[in-house]
Amino acid sequence: MTSLSIHPFKEDNRSCLKELWERCGLIVSHNNPDDDINFALQSPSSEVLVGMLSDQLVASVMVGYDGHRGWLYYVAVDPKHQKSGAGRAIVAAAEKWLKEKGVRKSMLLIRETNESVKKFYERLDYEMAPVIVMQRWL
Ligand SMILES: CC(C)(COP(=O)(O)OP(=O)(O)OC[C@H]1O[C@@H](n2cnc3c(N)ncnc32)[C@H](O)[C@@H]1OP(=O)(O)O)[C@@H](O)C(=O)NCCC(=O)NCCS
Repeated sequence: MTSLSIHPFKEDNRSCLKELWERCGLIVSHNNPDDDINFALQSPSSEVLVGMLSDQLVASVMVGYDGHRGWLYYVAVDPKHQKSGAGRAIVAAAEKWLKEKGVRKSMLLIRETNESVKKFYERLDYEMAPVIVMQRWL
């Protein structure tokens, strides 16, 4: 896919972005997408990038760093445009954004059972980290 144009989120992308996340199964009850977008946009250490095919929003990534590592969230490609390189392109754009900020490692979380997404990231040279993730709601 050569014509994917990737740029930072603009306010008029909001409804199409949420529809994309809905179509890709990324909206879950404990995360409000508007809050997630607003939270990412309020800090210089995070960004939402969108991939456009002419005027159609078909891909996204939320990227940020925590002062040490870089993290990717909401990596999504419209089901109609999957398997044409858009996922690889949007992840590369997020990695470029991180590198420009001096971040040396890109991290992401996927469910252990999500074999297909694991395979996607393996094609992009990501490897499983020998760690467990612990969490607590604040
Ligand atoms: C995961 C996702 C972003 C991949 O997007 P995509 O545009 O189809 O990916 P690409 O076409 O750029 O594929 C890149 C490589 O991964 C491979 N790949 C993509 N999806 C794959 C799958 N399900 N199984 C195995 N390999 C896969 C491609 O074959 C390609 O390999 P190659 O470049 O070596 O030929 C897309 O399937 C998606 O949006 N899924 C739903 C949302 C989701 O689960 N996001 C991840 C949140 S952590």
